[in-house]
Amino acid sequence: MGVLAIDAGTTGVTALVVTEDGRVASRGYREFPQHFPRPGWVEHVPEEIWQATLAACRHALDGTAETPTAVGITNQRETAVLWDRRTLAAPRPAIVWQDRRTSGVCDRLREAGAEERVSEVTGLRLDPYFTGTKLTWLAENDERAWEGVRQGRVVAGTVDAYLVARLTGGARHVTDATNASRTLLFDLARGEWSAEMCELFGVPAGALPEVVPSYGEVGRTDPDAFLGLDLPIAGIAGDQQAALFGQTCFSPGDVKCTYGTGSFVLINTGPKLVRSNAGLLTTVAWQTPSGELTYALEGSIFVTGAALQWLRDGLGIIDAAPASQAIASSVPDTGGVVFVPALTGLGAPHWDPDARGTILGITRGTTYAHLVRAALEAIAFEVRDVVEVMTGEAGLAVPALKADGGASANDLLMAMQADQLGVPVDRPVVQETTALGAAFLAGLGTGLWTSPDDLRQTWTLDRRFEPGPPDPKAYPRWREAVTRARGWARLT
Ligand SMILES: Nc1ncnc2c1ncn2[C@@H]1O[C@H](COP(=O)(O)OP(=O)(O)OP(=O)(O)O)[C@@H](O)[C@H]1O
Ligand SMILES: [Mg+2]
Repeated sequence: MGVLAIDAGTTGVTALVVTEDGRVASRGYREFPQHFPRPGWVEHVPEEIWQATLAACRHALDGTAETPTAVGITNQRETAVLWDRRTLAAPRPAIVWQDRRTSGVCDRLREAGAEERVSEVTGLRLDPYFTGTKLTWLAENDERAWEGVRQGRVVAGTVDAYLVARLTGGARHVTDATNASRTLLFDLARGEWSAEMCELFGVPAGALPEVVPSYGEVGRTDPDAFLGLDLPIAGIAGDQQAALFGQTCFSPGDVKCTYGTGSFVLINTGPKLVRSNAGLLTTVAWQTPSGELTYALEGSIFVTGAALQWLRDGLGIIDAAPASQAIASSVPDTGGVVFVPALTGLGAPHWDPDARGTILGITRGTTYAHLVRAALEAIAFEVRDVVEVMTGEAGLAVPALKADGGASANDLLMAMQADQLGVPVDRPVVQETTALGAAFLAGLGTGLWTSPDDLRQTWTLDRRFEPGPPDPKAYPRWREAVTRARGWARLT
C-alpha cells in the first residue's frame, strides 16, 4: 500500500511512491524546458509538463513493488494555463508565475484604485506574480486563444487543474482551494470564486474550475490517459501549502521555509485570517473535506535557488548548485560583495516587479567565490526580511524555523540562516516535503492515514542549526543594497 505523489514544480516533475509509514519507496524525476521569449517573460508548454509527469510517474512506479492506492498532486502555483475542454490541447504556452509581463496591467488597475479592494477580497496584492493579471493579459493580447475562452471551448486554470484534466481524460475540471487562493479571483473569507474579481480581471467565471477541498476523492485517473491506472485523485495543494502540510505544520504558529527556485515562508494561522500591511500574503493553507478552511500567512521570495542556477547557467561559474557550499566556504566572507538576486523583480516584503539583479561592492580582489558566497548569503537575508515582518508587524512568534526544499541540503546556507534569524533552523530527514505533503493529503483523503497525528509520527529531525553571532554590518548593508536594486527596469 502506498500513495503516488506528483510534484509538478517549476523546473521539473517529481513523482514519489510513499508508503504507509511515510517512507519514500521510490522516485522519478523529469525536467522540462523553460522558455524565455523576451526579458522578463517565462513560459511553459503544457504538453511538456504532462509528458514530464508521465515519465516521472512511470519511473517511480517501475522502481517499487508497492501498488499505490491513491494519487496526490502538488504543483507550481499561480501559473496560468489554457486548454481545450474536449481535446485537452493547449492553444498557447502557459504564463509562469515568475513572468513579469503584466506589471503594466497591475499599474493600470492600481491607478484605477483597485488595489485595496483586491487585497480585501483575495488576501493578495496587485502583482504580476498571481494568475489574475496573466489572464487579463491573454484576453487583451492573444485574441485567437481568448476567443476559445469566450466561446466556452477553452478553459483556464492553474497547473493542478490542468493535470487533473489530463489524468482523468478530461472528465474533471477542478482546482483545490489552496491553488484557487493564488489566482486573485478567489474570495478568501467565503471560500469561493469572486464574481467581482472575475469581472475586474475580465475572466469569464464559466472558464474556471470547480473549487474542491484539498483532500478527499475528487475524481479517478483514466487508465487510457494515465499508464493503465484507475486510481482516486484524493489530495491536491499548491506546492508551498503542500510543504507546510508535509512538514506537519498542523497547529497555529507552526512555520516552515521551503528553499527551492524561490523561498516561501508560511506560518499556519488556523481558522483565523491574518492580514498584513507590510507585504505578506494571506492564503488558504488547506481545506478539509467538510469545507473548513485553515489559513496561512506567507512571505513569497521569487529568486533564491534560482540565483544559483543563474550562476551555473548564466555565468558558468559553478558546475552544479550543491558545489556552491564548498566554493563559498573557501572564503571567510563575501569581501564586501552584496548580491541582490532580483532577477524577476522582488516579492515579499518589497514587492517591486521592476527591481532587477544587482551586485555591489566589487573590487579588484573579488573572486567568483565571493560572488557565490554572496548568493547564499542573499538567500538568508531575503528570508530574514520576511521573518522580520512576521515577528514585527504581524506580531507572530517564530521560535524556530523548519527548513526543506532542494537548497536546504546546503549546510552553510542553513548555518547562515540561523545566524541571521537568531533562532534555530530544523531540517528534517525528508527534504522533499512538497511531494510528501501531497502524499499525506491523498492518504488522508482515502483513509490510509486517519488523522494528522498519524503523520506527525513520521517527521524526523535530520539536523538542528543553532544560531551564532552574525556580522552586525552585514544585514544593514543588504537592506541598503535592496533599495539600490529597486525600480531598475523602469530605466531600461
Ligand atoms: N546544495 C545546494 N545548495 C544551494 N542550492 C541548491 C542546492 N541544491 C539545490 N539547490 C537549488 O535548489 C533548487 C532546487 O530545489 P527544489 O527542487 O526544491 O526546487 P523547486 O523550487 O521545488 O523546483 P521546482 O520549482 O521545479 O519545483 C534549485 O534552484 C537549485 O539551484
Ligand atoms: Mg518544487
